[in-house]
Amino acid sequence: MKVLFSGIQPTGTLHIGNYFGAIKNWVKIQYDYKTYISVVDYHAITIEYDPGKMPEKVMDLTINLFACGIDLEKTILFIQSEVTGHADLTWIFNSVTPMGELERMTQFKDKAKQHKKNVNVGLFDYPVLQAADILLYKGEVVPVGEDQVQHIEFTREVARYFNKRYGKTFPECEALLTKSPRIMGLDGENKMSKSMNNFIGILETENQIWDKVSVAKTDPARIKKTDPGNPFICNIYYYHKLVTNEEAREEVAEGCRTAGIGCLDCKKIFVTNLMRILNPIRERYENLKKNTHSIREILNNNADKCRHIAKQTLLETKERLGLNPVWKL
Ligand code: TRP
Ligand code: SF4
Repeated sequence: MKVLFSGIQPTGTLHIGNYFGAIKNWVKIQYDYKTYISVVDYHAITIEYDPGKMPEKVMDLTINLFACGIDLEKTILFIQSEVTGHADLTWIFNSVTPMGELERMTQFKDKAKQHKKNVNVGLFDYPVLQAADILLYKGEVVPVGEDQVQHIEFTREVARYFNKRYGKTFPECEALLTKSPRIMGLDGENKMSKSMNNFIGILETENQIWDKVSVAKTDPARIKKTDPGNPFICNIYYYHKLVTNEEAREEVAEGCRTAGIGCLDCKKIFVTNLMRILNPIRERYENLKKNTHSIREILNNNADKCRHIAKQTLLETKERLGLNPVWKL
């Protein structure tokens, strides 16, 4: 089986953009690979954050991922900072990475602009840590969103630089893009994100979600219920694509075009269908939350497994670099 690796930052509430854009796909393909999913807390500390809240955020994200369907028997879900090999390999990769490659990274440039007061070396080095994440397990397939493609290409470059200089050690991984294009926020203008406050959280209740969806933008040409609309310029119609089957969706589209249904009816159908997916996730979340002890045990176990693989990769890598353990001489 090929090795799959992906990571997710513990930066806050998961929303349906995360779920339909990435996590749902992880859940589906986790059985086709040897799957590693990491909660990347070492990445999260490269921007301003609250240390007091970090442990809870990491645990909460972990529980969320299991609740979404990451299989705790199959997938090795672990906390990045608990496997120190990630930092070891980052240092090694730092020494084969030209500064110029990192200067080109668009995410770095964006974040440097956003966080002008805290442009630290970690933020600059972020893609190298990401490469180390993947290659520590010799990851071959990396399911990510569009915004990460440049980092995956960079990871391939790092593998190439290393292999060329020290001999073939690392595979050249490939990005696996999700079919869902990026999911827009409730404002219909920006990508769904926590910072834009235009999101539907995966643990929100039907009432909470209805409060947000009922006032969300639709086709601006539909002022009265009798005005025909164009579903293809309406964000709500794209949301339907995530949760409503084709036949029912066609009905909604037709109703929209002929003013046969109102926007509120259309939104109700969407929310009902969405809750069919979110309700079981919230139930699982609440059950798992009662049992953080066993979650902690799973994480410990998984970190052990990761350390074992990491150790092998690092031994091999250090051997190539001439950093043999002294006892060998
Ligand atoms: N940078 C990724 C993001 O922001 C998270 C990440 C860290 C990651 N390490 C990874 C993704 C390794 C895939 C593989 O989404
Ligand atoms: Fe959008 Fe639905 Fe209203 Fe059409 S009926 S404009 S698809 S919310």
